Amino acid sequence: MGRKVIDLTLRVEGLGKVYKSHKDSYPTEVLKDINMELEEGEFVALMGPSGSGKTTCLNIFAGLDIPTKGLVEIDGCDISKYSEDEINAFRRQKLGFVFQDFNLLDSLTLQQNIMLPMILENRSYKEMEDKSMDLLNQLDISDIKGKYPYQVSGGEKQRAAIGRALINNPVLIFADEPTGNLDSKASRSIMEYLGKLNRELKCTILMVTHSPECASYCSKVLFIKDGRIDLELIRTSNQKLFYNDLLSYLADNGGGIDEL
Ligand SMILES: Nc1ncnc2c1ncn2[C@@H]1O[C@H](COP(=O)(O)OP(=O)(O)OP(=O)(O)O)[C@@H](O)[C@H]1O
Ligand SMILES: [Mg+2]
Repeated sequence: MGRKVIDLTLRVEGLGKVYKSHKDSYPTEVLKDINMELEEGEFVALMGPSGSGKTTCLNIFAGLDIPTKGLVEIDGCDISKYSEDEINAFRRQKLGFVFQDFNLLDSLTLQQNIMLPMILENRSYKEMEDKSMDLLNQLDISDIKGKYPYQVSGGEKQRAAIGRALINNPVLIFADEPTGNLDSKASRSIMEYLGKLNRELKCTILMVTHSPECASYCSKVLFIKDGRIDLELIRTSNQKLFYNDLLSYLADNGGGIDEL
């Protein structure tokens, strides 16, 4: 009695996924038993070899795909109980997404792209203007807010995409290889911005990455292997030392930077 139960931002229990693609092919059991917990304000990386099921995890967590078994709760809500309409509204209001290929609309300026999720929620123009200006300033792209995606660099596009992911104050942000199309300098810059937003706005982020350097900006790294979370490494030191820890773990476990 009396103990206050604090809802986790993400709770995943016993998650499994079998893909049955063709009538005559064998079903693939991609996820066997995934368990994970994210508390509010955590910045977590999910790593693992190509084809290990990282994107499948994010798709299921976001309600875009249905698990074969297991439970997913976001902010205390079991999304499997929602109707299609409810899940779409939940995704718009509570989740933010950042993708490898930015997914900005070419016909909108960077500021309009950032505002888009608020436009869909019928918010007042003044609120959209104020909130998007805050984010443009935080992401250092206010001077190019009127440019179109094809007029700016990949790193600048990704910063606008991060602004768009944040504008509705989501409880959780999913980023699937957000630096996958960027060179190492732009990647580092994006990671600095994600780290700053995580610290200052307390946003909770789950990021898939193949890069140990990018993962070293996170507070925790989960490794997925054979359908399970094989290991969890928690950052106890600064980013550079954590990077060395991640490299030595990878070297001791098949050396697989190339495999990741
Ligand atoms: N819709 C689908 N139907 C059938 N099989 C699928 C489907 N989506 C993914 N798979 C298979 O499930 C496995 C996991 O795919 P997933 O995209 O989750 O891997 P990943 O870890 O994100 O890989 P990468 O690092 O290359 O992005 C792969 O073998 C893939 O071919
Ligand atoms: Mg993937």
